[in-house]
Amino acid sequence: MLNEIWEKIDSEVELNKQELCYILSLEDPEKLEILYQKADKIRKKYVGDEVHLRGLIEFSNYCRNNCLYCGIRRDNKKVRRYRMEIDEIFETVSLASRLGYKTVVLQSGEDMYYTLDKLTELIKRIKNDMDIAITLSIGERSYEEYEKLYEAGADRYLMRFETSNPELYAKLHPDSSFENRINILKWLKQIGYQTGSGVMIGLPGQTIEDLAEDILMFKKLDLDMIGVGPYICHPDTPLAGNPGGTAEMTLKVIALTRIVTKNTHIPATTALATLRPEDGREKALMAGANVIMPNVTPLKYREHYTLYPNKICINESALQCNSCIKRRIYSIGRVIGTDYGHSLKKRENG
Ligand code: SAM
Ligand code: FES
Repeated sequence: MLNEIWEKIDSEVELNKQELCYILSLEDPEKLEILYQKADKIRKKYVGDEVHLRGLIEFSNYCRNNCLYCGIRRDNKKVRRYRMEIDEIFETVSLASRLGYKTVVLQSGEDMYYTLDKLTELIKRIKNDMDIAITLSIGERSYEEYEKLYEAGADRYLMRFETSNPELYAKLHPDSSFENRINILKWLKQIGYQTGSGVMIGLPGQTIEDLAEDILMFKKLDLDMIGVGPYICHPDTPLAGNPGGTAEMTLKVIALTRIVTKNTHIPATTALATLRPEDGREKALMAGANVIMPNVTPLKYREHYTLYPNKICINESALQCNSCIKRRIYSIGRVIGTDYGHSLKKRENG
């Protein structure tokens, strides 16, 4: 079976669910090395050697939701909540731009303090003043709001569907439905956003079959960007005590995601680097990933955006993260992307 799968990958024939499950169950390091090399080859062919840097600004940790896994969930009273004002976010984007980033990712909990008016003002100011692409990652809003934010100048939107298993999704998300999440992803694409989604690996109750379905779902949704990171257990959540995902399983899913989706943007996630601070990012970049999101959030806020414990880069300045990441990229013979790193998918609406 394995040789047949390798041949299918080499000749770029689609893998079915059973074959994906077979690869996800592999544990022999030599076979996994072959998998990563094949994913790396496809990465090189479809998205090249450039690694795109997206400056990440975590601008608020207020959240109206109570997702069971998340450290900044509404009911976690131990979190010190913060919000950055529009001027401060603007200044931080300006720092990201000076550091050379051609994209900023504006991320927060689902915080309705940031009204449509506030957000449009911010986006328009950034677009007037700087040559930078804007990715939003602020959760669920109405169709009209997504449309207005796009018209104001937002280029991309990130919203993970977290798991393709609707029952597991329902157990983990008391405030949102799987169906709505998938509908929103379709809206975002329809409006014209370059649309990103993704999943967590190692959620309690998640099976290998679920992960295979996640990968098939990435393909079906025809996404521009796909984030795959391990679930890391937070002690102040209802899921306290769960083992969480492994770096190895995360790397397998990243590699298969590259093999199946070919020309998408795939980040080497901070969560993976948290599990393997010494080489997590490099491993992901050598198994199919082509994006890194260095943290630009002002230092005084970083420790409070704790989705999971032991998050890396809590004490490093934006400049330190910038040089750390560049060093890691060069060390594996890759180069830094110099343009916006837009989606490589050709669509009628751009
Ligand atoms: N509120 C926005 C949303 O829901 O899309 C963006 C912020 S949300 C905190 C960003 C992502 O963090 C989620 O999509 C989830 O995959 C990830 N996340 C949350 N808790 C996590 C945990 N314990 N381990 C790993 N990733 C986690
Ligand atoms: Fe922040 Fe390495 S990326 S210290």
